[in-house]
Amino acid sequence: MEKYLINPNQKLSKINKDIYGNFSEHLGRCIYEGLYVGEDSDIPNVNGMRKDVVDALKDMGIPVLRWPGGCFADEYHWKDGIGPKENRKKMINTHWGGVVEDNSFGTHEFFELCRQLGCDTYINGNVGSGTVQEMSEWVEYMTLDGTSPMADLRKANGHEEPWNVKYFGVGNESWGCGGHMLPEAYANEFRRYETFVRDYDSSKHIYRIACGANAFDYHWTEVLLQKACSRMNGLSLHYYTIPHEWHRKGSALEFTKDEYDITIGRAYKMEELVRRHGDIMNQHDPDKRVGLIVDEWGTWYDVEPGTNPGFLYQQNTMRDAIVAALTLNIFNKHSDRVHMANIAQTVNVLQSVALTDGAEMLLTPTYHVFKMYKDHQENTLLGSYITTPVIGTDGEKFPKLIESASVDENGVIYATITNASADEAAEIKCQIADFELGDIRAEILVGSPWDYNSFEEKDAVRTAEFGDYTATADGFIATLPPCSVVKFVIK
Ligand code: AHR
Repeated sequence: MEKYLINPNQKLSKINKDIYGNFSEHLGRCIYEGLYVGEDSDIPNVNGMRKDVVDALKDMGIPVLRWPGGCFADEYHWKDGIGPKENRKKMINTHWGGVVEDNSFGTHEFFELCRQLGCDTYINGNVGSGTVQEMSEWVEYMTLDGTSPMADLRKANGHEEPWNVKYFGVGNESWGCGGHMLPEAYANEFRRYETFVRDYDSSKHIYRIACGANAFDYHWTEVLLQKACSRMNGLSLHYYTIPHEWHRKGSALEFTKDEYDITIGRAYKMEELVRRHGDIMNQHDPDKRVGLIVDEWGTWYDVEPGTNPGFLYQQNTMRDAIVAALTLNIFNKHSDRVHMANIAQTVNVLQSVALTDGAEMLLTPTYHVFKMYKDHQENTLLGSYITTPVIGTDGEKFPKLIESASVDENGVIYATITNASADEAAEIKCQIADFELGDIRAEILVGSPWDYNSFEEKDAVRTAEFGDYTATADGFIATLPPCSVVKFVIK
């Protein structure tokens, strides 16, 4: 039997709700069709935003949305996406699928989407192919109240009030698709561009995010912090879980038990990444002012057979749910440093929370994990520990169990535990220090690693009440089935 200890006396960091953020790029069917169908569509929509997806994301508790990319951000010229739609430029989306981008979803539409979602905004600016003036004018267009050339243009385009830009990314993957820069060169560019991201409303500081490392590139983090720490609020990190190699990533639906273990083992690398990038940050920023912003993470497989290779459309199984659950537990545990994260990407691209097919929509196993975990948002992380065997295959070993626990302002404790084993249950005994158990309830997401929701069977994987536990005076004893995510709500 594994021991699970929760200490409500050890109150740690606040879990920023934005850890549960999403990412939406002009890529494949994420924005167009996935989120935006246009006012004239037969698909039910409000001001062009599809209603089923918006309702589902609201229900999931989406706190923040990143837009417009990704690689697309460093080719995006925001003035192409404002004004009357019939006059907006049509161009080829050279990065993603070579399809026509008609710019019908632009700045106004993004803020309208976030208004409907009730979420905060994360805009990613263009450093790679844009100018300082272009970036500076975009910020002016979005946030300046009163009179100025850009504020007047916004008003002429029908939006009197400025919007609230919570986060602003200065370039994306500047070490790759965003310009193939060296860290020293980018650090300099960051300092220059960031200077002109003005806070027009002094009461609303825009949180500036510098482009951070590609996965294990610790040198990038070191240089950025050496050269520009004082000028940034956040530093990003991108890490994708790929079961094989870049040119043959593996199928989302057809995989062996070994491939399952490799995927889970690689997803667990997030812990090492957050810890080691965090260690470098601690040297330059011991007070943890600068956030580590994991603004792209998730699984990346080969596209579904027969779909456009540039659209990155993949299915989503319980394997993905386990990846999401363990990753979110890692983020919670490191919420002193991780201030925001954005799973890639919201709809129809990579590890999506929703998939659409014309007017049809389904929610993926990953969606259900986000919805289960939303109780952690804005809670206080508690000290907690679980004993666990290390399992896996020769290539990748990982802890079978991972958990995190938080407390809300009413003293209710939320504990989320992931059993990542594909085939072994786990018996656990939970004890909560200095605690007398009043009420307890639990919810589970469980299946075989290969289970998924299809348009024929949309609810094959969904959450259910969990009853396989016994309450004790100071906790519970439970049997967690293989490949499961369980949330306990304890009063
Ligand atoms: O999410 C897909 C792509 O992955 C993004 O555009 C880019 O930033 C990353 O390489």
